[in-house]
Amino acid sequence: MFEERIRLSQLRDRIVTAEEAASLIHDGMTVGMSGFGAAGDCKAVPLALAARAREQSLRITLMTGASVGYEVDGVLADAGAISRRMPFQSDKSLRNQINAGEAMFMDLHLSEMAEQLRDGFLGPVDVAVIEAVAVGEAGIVPTMSVGNSAVFAALAKQVIVEINLDMPLELEGLHDVYLPLSRPAREPIPLTNAAQRIGLPYIPLDPRKIAAIVVTRKGDSPNKVLPPDADTTQIAGHLSSFFSHEVRAGRLGSSLQPLQAGVGSIANAVLHGLVDSGFSGLRMYSEVLQDGAIELLDAGCVDFACASAIMLSSEYQTRFFEGLARYRSRVLLRPQEISNHPEVIRRLGVIAVNTALECDIYGNVNSTHVGGTHMMNGIGGSGDFARNAYLSVFVTKSLAKNGDISSIVPMVSHVDHIGQDVDVIVTEHGLADLRGLAPRERAQQIIMHCADPLYRDALRDYVVKAGARGGQTPHLIEEALAWHAHYRERHSMRDIQTSPPASPRIPEPA
Ligand code: COA
Repeated sequence: MFEERIRLSQLRDRIVTAEEAASLIHDGMTVGMSGFGAAGDCKAVPLALAARAREQSLRITLMTGASVGYEVDGVLADAGAISRRMPFQSDKSLRNQINAGEAMFMDLHLSEMAEQLRDGFLGPVDVAVIEAVAVGEAGIVPTMSVGNSAVFAALAKQVIVEINLDMPLELEGLHDVYLPLSRPAREPIPLTNAAQRIGLPYIPLDPRKIAAIVVTRKGDSPNKVLPPDADTTQIAGHLSSFFSHEVRAGRLGSSLQPLQAGVGSIANAVLHGLVDSGFSGLRMYSEVLQDGAIELLDAGCVDFACASAIMLSSEYQTRFFEGLARYRSRVLLRPQEISNHPEVIRRLGVIAVNTALECDIYGNVNSTHVGGTHMMNGIGGSGDFARNAYLSVFVTKSLAKNGDISSIVPMVSHVDHIGQDVDVIVTEHGLADLRGLAPRERAQQIIMHCADPLYRDALRDYVVKAGARGGQTPHLIEEALAWHAHYRERHSMRDIQTSPPASPRIPEPA
């Protein structure tokens, strides 16, 4: 029955229950699990592990590609089984434990984790648990993500493979697994266009390392993104007008340059908005493909899209599997160290579109820490792309929490992306093109184009008062984070406007 999925007869003898496989994992171990954006998560072993952790003391260091679904992070966190976690997460229970100091979270650039593992910075990997479509003599065929699975398979002392019968065999051929050589023998990554194949269609693995195989039947957790709304439609509109402007100025060709779009509702909605932009022949060189990417492929705007994971809502998962024959020649999944590799991003001239929680008037961006202290998800791949992109764009709604928070503030409460890594900021109100501008000029553009009118005057007053004090990047150090303190104390930044305005204000442009 399993011949086409488990292609080596002796491996079929290693089929065990999830509980038996999970018994290979002991307290204190480091476990690398497949999964990226809840795509390609292992489905059975984490549940069995959590069940054991509820009975006995069992805490592990959990490594994955990026975020994984509730049935990995949430269930394990609720069972008290996660002591250390890296490199990204987006689960509520785990987030609460991280912010309570109960679970230690290493928030890493996603491109760097494989390197840090190989370099021995993160310790040995005891067990890898990898979801697969099939396993054979040469290795394993992953499912909807590659993430860090190839490096986990290479480094782990033992590997547990979860064969998921609900993942179609036709996924084979969708992956391109290239692993850089160790330094100093490292060669340039031979990737010169987004559609190129440079590796193997499977993760190489010596079958002798496979300690157990578990058979599952379960789809990926659906990606819960909010549908596009008026604000995100406006953000997409500003961005596509900007791209048209760049084409007219001769800085971009008519099919632009490879696009990257970040995780979350806003980046996904921005992609949906590009469907009507009139652009065609686009390519994506991204970390994740969300529903918006499938929409662009179907609309014929995007010819080819590669990433490290395909994370879709239920509706789009169905659409993707039904149309797999069509998508297979136009979609490719790579290890995250390649999808996010600075060398490739710089060479291809990627246009990166990521989401900020907040931006400051000088263009520094906070993508991770609410109020400067509390982890939301992590930096993910946004730093890999922002630093190395041809154009680094950050999108955000100008307001959060019903207007009680301004996403444009005098000083971000935590810095993920320094001003030098941020070329363009877009909100529903407009787009600030920061290229070639000094900090004082940036402040004018960001306040004028991106801030909500509710907070614009207060920001202008701040700029005038700070500017009078002097500096390359003027600040009122004692007031710079007063907006966040106000929110913490009064649950709103609104009354920050009651402070007496300084004059003269920066005049509106004619
Ligand atoms: N202060 C406090 N909270 C804020 C905020 C701010 N300035 N701006 C937004 N939020 C809150 C929202 O209210 C929302 O809260 P809720 O979940 O309680 O409703 C939450 O942050 C998410 O915001 P949302 O507007 O729904 O945006 P999103 O789903 O697009 O996610 C990020 C935005 C920044 C959290 C997400 O993109 C992310 O994790 N980015 C970092 C990693 C990354 O960029 N990876 C991509 C690289 S390829």
